[in-house]
Amino acid sequence: MIGTGGREHALVLALARDELVDQVHAAPGNPGIAALAERHEVDPVDGAAVAALAARLDVDLVVVGPEAPLVAGVADAVRDKAIACFGPTAEAARIEGSKAFAKEVMAAAGVPTALAHVCTTRDAVVAALDAFGAPYVVKDDGLTAGKGVVVSDDRAEALRHATGCLTADGVVVVEEHLDGPEVSLFAVTDGETVLPLVPAQDFKRLGDGDTGPNTGGMGAYAPLPWAPAGLVDDVVARVLQPTVDELSRRGTPFAGLLYAGLALTSRGLRVVEFNARFGDPETQVVLPLLDSSLGTVLRAAATGRLHEVGPLRWSSGAAVSVVLAAPGYPRAARLGGLLHGLSAAGRCPGVHVVHAGTTVRADGALVSAGGRVVAVTAVGADVAEARQRAYAGVELITLDGAQHRTDVATWAAAG
Ligand code: AMP
Ligand code: GLY
Repeated sequence: MIGTGGREHALVLALARDELVDQVHAAPGNPGIAALAERHEVDPVDGAAVAALAARLDVDLVVVGPEAPLVAGVADAVRDKAIACFGPTAEAARIEGSKAFAKEVMAAAGVPTALAHVCTTRDAVVAALDAFGAPYVVKDDGLTAGKGVVVSDDRAEALRHATGCLTADGVVVVEEHLDGPEVSLFAVTDGETVLPLVPAQDFKRLGDGDTGPNTGGMGAYAPLPWAPAGLVDDVVARVLQPTVDELSRRGTPFAGLLYAGLALTSRGLRVVEFNARFGDPETQVVLPLLDSSLGTVLRAAATGRLHEVGPLRWSSGAAVSVVLAAPGYPRAARLGGLLHGLSAAGRCPGVHVVHAGTTVRADGALVSAGGRVVAVTAVGADVAEARQRAYAGVELITLDGAQHRTDVATWAAAG
């Protein structure tokens, strides 16, 4: 497992309880992962180092968690050593690495998405903002860990963000605003066969009631009791399969996890974004519900044999995850704060604590080391029970100045 965050801890948890998986190694992992896997001090974006480690350990499968190593070609480096790797090539990972590229692929594949202008001058930005009107949506073209998007009624703020992106990269994307609830749907694919997971919803804004800045994600739940019947089949047929087929047709097949960020708008389904990897924190709520062997599925995708794997099996319950973030996150997180209460939280019924940004200090104390620090996750018979359990766990954890949302899954739990 390559990576350091909550998504990687959630993946390691699911692999560790998979009877068909003998051993898990992490490069470099985190203190939560350390309980389940041997850690190796390797830089996740250093393809040669990751490939060398995988060869030395003689592993059957490398799983790349985050987007940065994928875009940097780490999966290519591993496959060059004839080692199976779950994660797309650098070329295919551009579906996440460049919003302009993703728009071009969607247009070619006939996939519904927000209208967008890719702008390279301030005049073009002004024209696009005024053509679409408020609320304004302005996106950094490249990778920004969910923080490069401004959605605002304030034209001056939108223009300021666009100007910043133009200065940094020479390009910025201005989009039509999409209304309606958002859904994250993940699919495992080997470049041909597409196997969807259960849909999830994440909470991108920092504050309750979807206020404040965009973050990497402050919480999530799955499945979606309110989702329209046939949603998953519809997204596979209209979004995931056509996108996978289009990338294949271009000679850059996408094998790995294709994440469709969707808006269910008043005018129908639209893609907000694609990601080339599991979502964080959605993975924390999707994988605890999976009854199939995760190792088998990932390995089949990595070796072009996904058609041999039947539909995935899921438990009937639900999962909710609440992120505790460091003070100052997302703009300027203050790190190094002492964490207490993780084991007490982990002893609550149905609760486990996923490490997202933690480290063990020289004196042995567990301290925060990332903007999102832990994801307190719980499973239950339904969303309401999972939610109540997750928040019971949150109550037991202390970190000075920590921020968390109090309304994760509230609405879904009430339905
Ligand atoms: P992205 O990085 O593209 O996923 O954008 C982050 C978040 O910004 C999304 O999850 C949405 O909540 C919001 N967002 C992005 N694009 C749009 C859009 N066209 N209309 C409304 N909200 C959007
Ligand atoms: N939860 C949003 C993401 O992983 O991009």
